[in-house]
Amino acid sequence: MSEWNAVLYDQKHDFVSKFGGSLVELLAPQKGETILDLGCGTGDLASEIANQGAIVHGIDASETMIHQAQTKYPQIQFSVQDATQIDAHHQFDAVFSNAALHWIKQPEMVVQNVYNALKTNGRFIAEMGGKGNISSIVNAIKQSMDELGYTYIEDYFPWYFPTAEEYSELLQHAGFQVKMMTIYERPTPLIGDDGIKNWLQMFSDNIFQHLSEYQKNSVVQLCEKILKPQLYKEHTWIADYWRLRFVAVK
Ligand code: BEZ
Repeated sequence: MSEWNAVLYDQKHDFVSKFGGSLVELLAPQKGETILDLGCGTGDLASEIANQGAIVHGIDASETMIHQAQTKYPQIQFSVQDATQIDAHHQFDAVFSNAALHWIKQPEMVVQNVYNALKTNGRFIAEMGGKGNISSIVNAIKQSMDELGYTYIEDYFPWYFPTAEEYSELLQHAGFQVKMMTIYERPTPLIGDDGIKNWLQMFSDNIFQHLSEYQKNSVVQLCEKILKPQLYKEHTWIADYWRLRFVAVK
């Protein structure tokens, strides 16, 4: 994530914070509450939460994202921090996270850190990719690499997309009471005719790390061809996102 281009992220992938809008409603931040925004990206939702009177601390593992967030919202506290290394105790009324938890492949550590960071009765409200998320894109990547003769390396898969049952169990194991857990399909439009290419360039670098630039571009091109009949509708690329959304209380 730290390699992400934060400006490109804001220009072409602002759907990430736009779709998160109603998650802020679910959080229902109260005046004076202390709230940790885990994986805050460039800070748009942290700002929305702060505008409702809460005291927000945004963290993200990406330096470029945090730099962009600080530039946009200098009045909010942001810091570069890996969610597996949060060392806070009984500090926050709520932990909020949108579209970040699926990037962390050690979910047990994150959930335990969040639990520790919350005050008693504190709430953890989050949305992430769930089981089946972007499955057509992942299949197209595998098929393209196979057809082009490049090795697909499972360990380079950068995401964690759990089922509702799996994640509930994790939360309960850490000590949370799960108040709500839902998984739903959320088709997500990508901007422009190059939408799927841009998406792959932006998010899939990890999978292509052993390929040359030329090889990577040929995979991206073949993916676009494979995915067009499935995901390109009425001049718009629509990614097959599945979201896991939950509310858990300490
Ligand atoms: C997501 O928000 O579901 C997502 C974004 C980028 C890569 C993979 C998943």
